Amino acid sequence: MGRVAELSGASVRMLHHYDRIGLVRPSARTSAGYRAYSAGDVERLREVLAFRRLGFGLREIADLVDDPAADTAARLRRLRGLLVEQRDRTAAMVAAIDRELEGRAMGIRTTPEEQLKVLGARLYERIGLDYPATRRTEPRIAARIQQALGDARTVLNVGAGTGSYEPADREVIAVEPSAVMRAQRPAGAAPCVAANAERLPFPDDAFDAAMAVSTVHHWPDPIAGLREMRRVARRVVVFTYDADTPGWLDRFWLTRDYLPEFGALLADRPSLADMARAIGGRAEPVPVPWDCADGFFEAHWRRPEAYLDERVRRAVSVWTRVGARAERRAVDGLRADLDSGRWAERNRELAALDSAELGLRLLVG
Ligand SMILES: C[S@@+](CC[C@H](N)C(=O)[O-])C[C@H]1O[C@@H](n2cnc3c(N)ncnc32)[C@H](O)[C@@H]1O
Repeated sequence: MGRVAELSGASVRMLHHYDRIGLVRPSARTSAGYRAYSAGDVERLREVLAFRRLGFGLREIADLVDDPAADTAARLRRLRGLLVEQRDRTAAMVAAIDRELEGRAMGIRTTPEEQLKVLGARLYERIGLDYPATRRTEPRIAARIQQALGDARTVLNVGAGTGSYEPADREVIAVEPSAVMRAQRPAGAAPCVAANAERLPFPDDAFDAAMAVSTVHHWPDPIAGLREMRRVARRVVVFTYDADTPGWLDRFWLTRDYLPEFGALLADRPSLADMARAIGGRAEPVPVPWDCADGFFEAHWRRPEAYLDERVRRAVSVWTRVGARAERRAVDGLRADLDSGRWAERNRELAALDSAELGLRLLVG
């Protein structure tokens, strides 16, 4: 027990307590006859400690680790999803505090309401209000989505946000967990349900098609969410990103030369191949037009000055998730290179392109 306590960072007292309440019982015996943790016990203990660290109560944890519907891999995926969510929430809190500190330095005080909001910060509750400033439907990408939806009459839009890309000529139901995003849906937009992709509140085969645009990378458990889409619809269309190709960070000058931290954000996400498998689909490249109307991360590849604009960055979660320090370094570096002509020199070939292959993909299954 001492050794397990030392390795895991748990106290011996805590381990005794888990043993007493039956949460993790050392079931093996040492050669001298003492009780010891088997490999299975250690696996269980690791889950218990991780859930504990996430703030779950012991009774809830018992239900989670004893869930008969989930095998070890499914439980690990759930745990991982919760940890990713916590990481994003922490990043949003750090960003909010950085902004408050900057404001204070300029003599601006945050209201008590704003101060409390920082504590409950969820990524899109935090950045959602900045979203509509530069995020809107890009017609050429919308046309690709329309084509992929085929003859579907009823469509579920998962992670729908403010409603970009929602087809106007079909019967649409939207799913969006963030209240801030839901509140910004225009009047007349499709009805919207507050739910997560991983647990869609609809019966099997309820829709002709399900779509998800620029959202899968935010889901705590993307594979579970994609399987849910597959369950509720006979056709699935997903606009996402390919981080499988070796050297993918070098595809875009912004990540290659200024913001390599982008790599860490996607490093622990499922591969494009696994996502395609989850919906039984294929991946089609989606080039980004030089004048892309939707201000997602890659949109301004031929308009580099745009990234110096705070409004452009705030509407893209990447900039909040990498943290204020990386953001500042990247923006300062880009500004200096634009001023000195170094950016233009390094990226001379871009001026002749009307669209660029930057790893964006449409999964159709
Ligand atoms: C970049 S926005 C995309 C919104 C919209 N699809 C668009 O193309 O403009 C990502 C959205 O995913 C939502 N989201 C985050 N986690 C989710 C989850 N687990 N299930 C469904 N949507 C989620 C966020 O609240 C946010 O509105």
